[in-house]
Amino acid sequence: MSVSQRPVPVVPKGPTWVDGMPWEDFDPAKVDPQLLKTVKAAAMVEFNAYDYAAYLTNVFPDDPEFKAAAETWAEEEVLHGVALGRWARMADPSFDFDQAIKRFRQGYSLPLDAKESVRGSRAGELVARCIVEVGTSSFYTAFGQSMPEPVFKKICQRIAADEFRHYKLFYTHLKRYLQKDRISKARRLLIAIGRIAESEDDELAYAYYAANGDTNQPYDRKIWSAAYMRGALGLYRREHIDRAVAMTLKAAGLDPQGRMASFGSRVAYWLLRTRHKRLARGIHDEQNLQAA
Ligand SMILES: [Fe+2]
Ligand SMILES: [Fe+2]
Repeated sequence: MSVSQRPVPVVPKGPTWVDGMPWEDFDPAKVDPQLLKTVKAAAMVEFNAYDYAAYLTNVFPDDPEFKAAAETWAEEEVLHGVALGRWARMADPSFDFDQAIKRFRQGYSLPLDAKESVRGSRAGELVARCIVEVGTSSFYTAFGQSMPEPVFKKICQRIAADEFRHYKLFYTHLKRYLQKDRISKARRLLIAIGRIAESEDDELAYAYYAANGDTNQPYDRKIWSAAYMRGALGLYRREHIDRAVAMTLKAAGLDPQGRMASFGSRVAYWLLRTRHKRLARGIHDEQNLQAA
């Protein structure tokens, strides 16, 4: 599928929950400018969900029930992008959302020609989709708690609830496909861990660059992935990780409340803090180098 044939995000017409947000309560004094950069990047990725819907349609061509669910899901994700983009424009009127999304879509694309899941099976694909929703529901919960601006908090509460519902949606379809695909719990766990590791791949990094970078400078994954991760990893507290680990284990068919969950959560939180500290030290070193 060429770039020109890619699906264009359809913004739902008519009043939506985005219009019902108390925009008049927006308080510019409570915007954290560093976190604003992460909001812009998140808006890009959410707005681009129709690419995922197109990919999922290719992977599940003979499943009308799932294809219809994926279409509704994409509309809901696009609305997340609309809400975050609108908020980002209020916080920074110089932010050109349309231009940024154009840059993002020109520079980043999913494997839209894939006819089979890149996860090796449809059940594997659904495990990965569950993990994405684990990530987003924890991310928006943590994000809303970190940014003091009141309208942003409301937007994040709404989005986090949607993301949790999406997790349940993909989990329901996963149970159906597991009856056919029968992949092992170990395989499911490996797919889950692999998908978590992909959060440092190009998608979020390129979105961060497209929204915040100097586009006269070429994209460098290492720099922009570090910039994105530095902002995002700092948002999480232990309770967010506990919940994310429980949801991940459930998607892998493992006990979400047992010993493995508490051990996994301790390790995951330690890894996250260590990575965040290293990234923070990296920027400190860069500043020292520039000052030298
Ligand atoms: Fe979303
Ligand atoms: Fe979602």
